[in-house]
Amino acid sequence: MTYTPIQQLPGWAAVQQQARRFLAGHARVARAAGMAEGAHHEVAEHVPVASPAFDLRHAFASNPQRVAQHSHTVCDAQGRMLLHVDYSKAHIDQAALHAMLALVQQQQVPQQCQALFAGDVVNVSEQRAAMHWLLRSPSQDGLPAQLHSQWQEVAEVRSRFLAFAEQVRADDSIHDIVHLGIGGSDLGPQMAVQALHHLACASGKRFHFISNIDGHELASLLPQLQARHTLFIVASKTFSTLETMTNARTVWQWLHAQLALQHADAAAAVARHFVAVTARPDRAQAFGIHTVFTFADWVGGRYSIWSAIGLPLAIAIGAAGFRQFLDGAHAIDQHFAHTPTADNLPLILALLDVWYASALGYEHRCIAPYHAWLQRLPAWLQQLEMESNGKSVTQSGHMVGAHTAGSVWGEPGCNGQHAFFQLLHQGTHIVPVEFIAVRDSHYAQTDHTLNWSQHHHLLLANALAQAQALMLGRSDANPQRICPGNRPSTFIVLPDLSARTLGALLALYEHRVFASAALWGINSFDQFGVELGKELAHHIAPRLSSGDTHGLDASTANLLAHLRQSQ
Ligand code: F6P
Repeated sequence: MTYTPIQQLPGWAAVQQQARRFLAGHARVARAAGMAEGAHHEVAEHVPVASPAFDLRHAFASNPQRVAQHSHTVCDAQGRMLLHVDYSKAHIDQAALHAMLALVQQQQVPQQCQALFAGDVVNVSEQRAAMHWLLRSPSQDGLPAQLHSQWQEVAEVRSRFLAFAEQVRADDSIHDIVHLGIGGSDLGPQMAVQALHHLACASGKRFHFISNIDGHELASLLPQLQARHTLFIVASKTFSTLETMTNARTVWQWLHAQLALQHADAAAAVARHFVAVTARPDRAQAFGIHTVFTFADWVGGRYSIWSAIGLPLAIAIGAAGFRQFLDGAHAIDQHFAHTPTADNLPLILALLDVWYASALGYEHRCIAPYHAWLQRLPAWLQQLEMESNGKSVTQSGHMVGAHTAGSVWGEPGCNGQHAFFQLLHQGTHIVPVEFIAVRDSHYAQTDHTLNWSQHHHLLLANALAQAQALMLGRSDANPQRICPGNRPSTFIVLPDLSARTLGALLALYEHRVFASAALWGINSFDQFGVELGKELAHHIAPRLSSGDTHGLDASTANLLAHLRQSQ
């Protein structure tokens, strides 16, 4: 496979040509609002525009088909809706999409997708396949023959960890589940357990997630626990991550101290309260943990929720629920693998992301889930997108030559509206917003004595109103009151927040990130950038005790001295 810097693809000039119309649209809006044009994009000022500047309001007025052309619904094999995506309020139109679609063939994106689903080495720098999708395949039918043995291993571990989850659910002596992990070994299970809060509550267990090495996290949790009623899950692909192993050792000591009084063989008692999930079972066993669930090294950390890393979720929602979670994701795998480009939702959204970042220079994306239980979704997405696609060099070793993934951030609505939405409406940055709204609520179905439906209607009304306001804007005689409008957004609708739809939503994001990387020619599956800081922390840690600043840069030496002062 060859990976060409995106600006060297034959179709890039046509993409740029389209981009000028959109950037000129900002310049015109800025003029109307009395803002400095340069605040929006310098290209808009310097490049002559052949066709009229793009404006969302005109785009809708001039094209009655716009919504139909720019929205898709994905259903599962039984025809049940999984999700609906409306990107008609995005800064794109058929001409721009057409120009972007040309890049798909030129960068061999279909071949890269085939390689993903064939189990080929797509993570070239680490010489690995990336087969998180295999974890959610319900059977080996239809899989390439060379993947049958891997699927059987996956199915065997899955049966074991789901049976274990059921055993824990049935064990009334276990009240608290504490999951120790960080990054991909934390964000997925934490976000998903929170998202399926009603099911987690019904399990009768309390769930805690400790990720940070900062002792404030663990120190404030331990006093709330009773050792004999607590199960600790140590989740680490490498079983060597500093934060996780430090927390695991502290918990081990704590449990030992607690249980030594009650058990003659304290070590065996401690081991009964620990489970490990890892790709390095040798290290977990050396640590002293007997119950170990494994996964393969071709499961990337940030794609590992579908493996035994999802154990807390399986305990929270049960084996059947976990299988529904996998099924929802599998439906999106099928959609991504088999749907033609023009209707392929992850691919279309990837085209939009690449268009925004590389052609229009939009550096940020705001995620606004209008559901309190999706609070951790932006954090999960931050790792998925920014750790996967925050890269500058193609898989062939050349500079990409354009912006790749930008920053992703957000908060559930309506809270975000009362914090940073001001900037989205009137600020100088163009920040595409991604609204996620859920049609049915849970509390409204359970208690009819209170006016719950009003809550939900008002929540959904706010999501719709914000997307509308961003697009329509408002004119006013007072320039400070003008909302320029023509601000882009995408709107995702889930019929409900269930294991099935959550699985589908996460898989949609995973494939979107992969497809964006394929367009940029970068490797989504390595993360060498995060290694450097880890190495330096290793060298600095002993200096905090010794005070040795020899060879440190002046700023680090000065800060280290300040941080040692109270010792
Ligand atoms: O932060 C870097 C990282 O390597 C992530 O990619 C990974 O999810 C996380 O650390 C945790 O790694 P592990 O599961 O090996 O403890």
